Amino acid sequence: MSAPAVSLREITAETVRAICELEPQEAQSGFVAPNAVSIAQAYFNRAAVFRAVYADEEPVGFIMWRPGDDGASCFLWRFMIDARHQGKGYGREAIALWLSSLEPQGYGLARTSYVPGDRGPHGFYLAQGFKDTGETRANGERLMELTL
Ligand SMILES: CC(C)(COP(=O)(O)OP(=O)(O)OC[C@H]1O[C@@H](n2cnc3c(N)ncnc32)[C@H](O)[C@@H]1OP(=O)(O)O)[C@@H](O)C(=O)NCCC(=O)NCCS
Repeated sequence: MSAPAVSLREITAETVRAICELEPQEAQSGFVAPNAVSIAQAYFNRAAVFRAVYADEEPVGFIMWRPGDDGASCFLWRFMIDARHQGKGYGREAIALWLSSLEPQGYGLARTSYVPGDRGPHGFYLAQGFKDTGETRANGERLMELTL
């Protein structure tokens, strides 16, 4: 059997509840806001774009981004894969899809930030090609970036 196809899909009235029920491992809850909170924040930040991550027809995660203040970079604001679906390559595929969508839109740089800690996403982002910038945000999150 071939590996499930990963896609980023718009969230609809029919799917929003299932997306809000996706959660990381309990020990990872400090690394990302609940999806319902992210969607609510996007309502007040109209530049934000969010999508559900699907593996074939099954929702497995959530991704949200916004243009950087400079217009040349895009900031990965939220990203998670549900605990039951981690370790299957879906996160890697979803980030690859997101990155490949940026250059055609005129972005030259992808940025993100992470909360340092055990089971945190730092190693994951390094594996996807992001590099530490050495900067720390006021909220303690560390910045990373990837030149497209
Ligand atoms: C980080 C996260 C999205 C990774 O998703 P995933 O689907 O489990 O990742 P994948 O299965 O695609 O893993 C891809 C690679 O990264 C590695 N990897 C995954 N999580 C890792 C971690 N926390 N540290 C180091 N490496 C990691 C995998 O071993 C794999 O390596 P390989 O390419 O050599 O096989 C997921 O663990 C998650 O949702 N975490 C909680 C929320 C979070 O921290 N989000 C980021 C906040 S901005």
